[in-house]
Amino acid sequence: MDTKKNNGQESIRLKKPQGGMGVENAPEFSDWVEQVRNQNTAYTLETGKTRKFKIDVFGCQMNERDAETIAGMLTDMGFEEVPKDKPADIIVFVTCCVRENAEERIYGHIGGLTEECRENGSIIVACGCMMQQSHVVEKIKKSYHNVKIVFGTHNIHTFPELLYRYMTSKKRVFEIWEKEAGVIEELPVKRADKHKAWVNIILGCNNFCSYCIVPYVRGRERSRDFNDVLAEIKALAKDGCKEVTLLGQNVNSYGNDLGEKELFAKLLYAIEDIDGIERVRFMTSHPKDLSDSLIEAMKTCKKVCNHLHLPFQSGSTRILEKMNRKYTKEHYLELVSKIRRAVPDIALTTDIIVGFPGETEEDFEDTLDVVRKVGFEAAYMFIYSPRKGTPAAKLEQDIPSEVISARFKRLADLQTRIATELAKKYEGKTVEVLVDGPSKNNPEMLSGRTRSNRLVNFKADNVEKGDTVYVDIIRAGAFWLEGRGGKKLG
Ligand code: SAH
Ligand code: SF4
Ligand code: F3S
Repeated sequence: MDTKKNNGQESIRLKKPQGGMGVENAPEFSDWVEQVRNQNTAYTLETGKTRKFKIDVFGCQMNERDAETIAGMLTDMGFEEVPKDKPADIIVFVTCCVRENAEERIYGHIGGLTEECRENGSIIVACGCMMQQSHVVEKIKKSYHNVKIVFGTHNIHTFPELLYRYMTSKKRVFEIWEKEAGVIEELPVKRADKHKAWVNIILGCNNFCSYCIVPYVRGRERSRDFNDVLAEIKALAKDGCKEVTLLGQNVNSYGNDLGEKELFAKLLYAIEDIDGIERVRFMTSHPKDLSDSLIEAMKTCKKVCNHLHLPFQSGSTRILEKMNRKYTKEHYLELVSKIRRAVPDIALTTDIIVGFPGETEEDFEDTLDVVRKVGFEAAYMFIYSPRKGTPAAKLEQDIPSEVISARFKRLADLQTRIATELAKKYEGKTVEVLVDGPSKNNPEMLSGRTRSNRLVNFKADNVEKGDTVYVDIIRAGAFWLEGRGGKKLG
């Protein structure tokens, strides 16, 4: 393993320098991969079969991206990926603990596999955010015996070693690193799509919003090296990728830990020069850190899409303070005006939490007020869920659950009304769509996204996944647009 210091930030490279074993002669990442692959080759020679895996991902884009790394490692180790409805030797759960219902669903899914594991001799691997919590690991140890391997967010790269240990001992393996280990580069990846890709730019979070578990399970902020990010995007472009989404819990902090200011804006300008990349997206932006230089970059860079996800969480300055969000309702609204002045056709989306302890009717009215004033094209709305270990979990929940449900419904109804109205502007227009493939709900239709990130379902001939086409919008609803025709660009 080769480590590269970079202003105090450590990038750990997994590829071995030429000439065999690393410094201490201990087996390294690629050795473990090879060991497991040898086991699988022997199995195939003996049985004529190939061992299979499938992955179930919960939570946010970070997990989607981690799942691609896990799929990459398993593929390199000689396993073959199968769809979720097919039997597999290894079933991987990439878990999320941001809200209680996410955790409950995951326990439900794992528990529901008892029969499948018994019939097929499958084993379950559990990893991701939920596994960074010791009470979860204890519960899995005690009550979910089909889970044979557990690792956390900080030691994904040890998976081949853990798998080898399990395969050779048949003993359950639990290994969770409590602390983050720099930035691990050069892990294998099997991407879900060729035409669009997730690209991590910053891992972890330093913001400690009082309700949020993420900083505890994903560690402190660590930016990837600027050149590593660019090299990855160049390689993607060469391979036919047209759209990249830059990922971080707070992309606006990119570079802070490297001692570099405004590095995120610089990154956007640098990506502008990469041939083949047509669209650049990023998420998430924290309103307290969204800088003028970023707004300027969004205005200038032609490839940066006219969409911004800007969670506001609550419209009440009093609640925002209790949430440790470090901005006020007025600041948020001013920020929105500033962005709209720079990029008039920007589509804004957001996250909102309803029922934070102490939220009064007046506080909630402030949330509705922000929703009315801004006009979000989409909003992800959540009922507050206390998370063990966060400061907010110690606050007494003084709002009756019926009141919270009623508020949630009022908010959701308002948002749907607004999104429906905003969608009308697309009717009769021709929009640029990057095609994702057949529509999930109606396989006769194709599906894709506008630059503003609107979902479009449309009928067209001679159009396939990965094409960039012009589509005429004939009907527009709150959640998707219906179109026809798909004239290819260029
Ligand atoms: N880093 C991103 C997203 C974090 S998690 C950001 O700061 O916006 C995604 C969303 O989940 C958050 O924006 C928030 O709206 C919601 N969320 C996080 N913790 C929650 C909790 N304890 N209860 C309810 N919703 C929560
Ligand atoms: Fe959680 Fe806040 Fe960090 Fe987002 S910015 S991940 S909400 S602590
Ligand atoms: Fe969930 Fe972890 Fe993302 S807790 S929301 S998967 S960072």
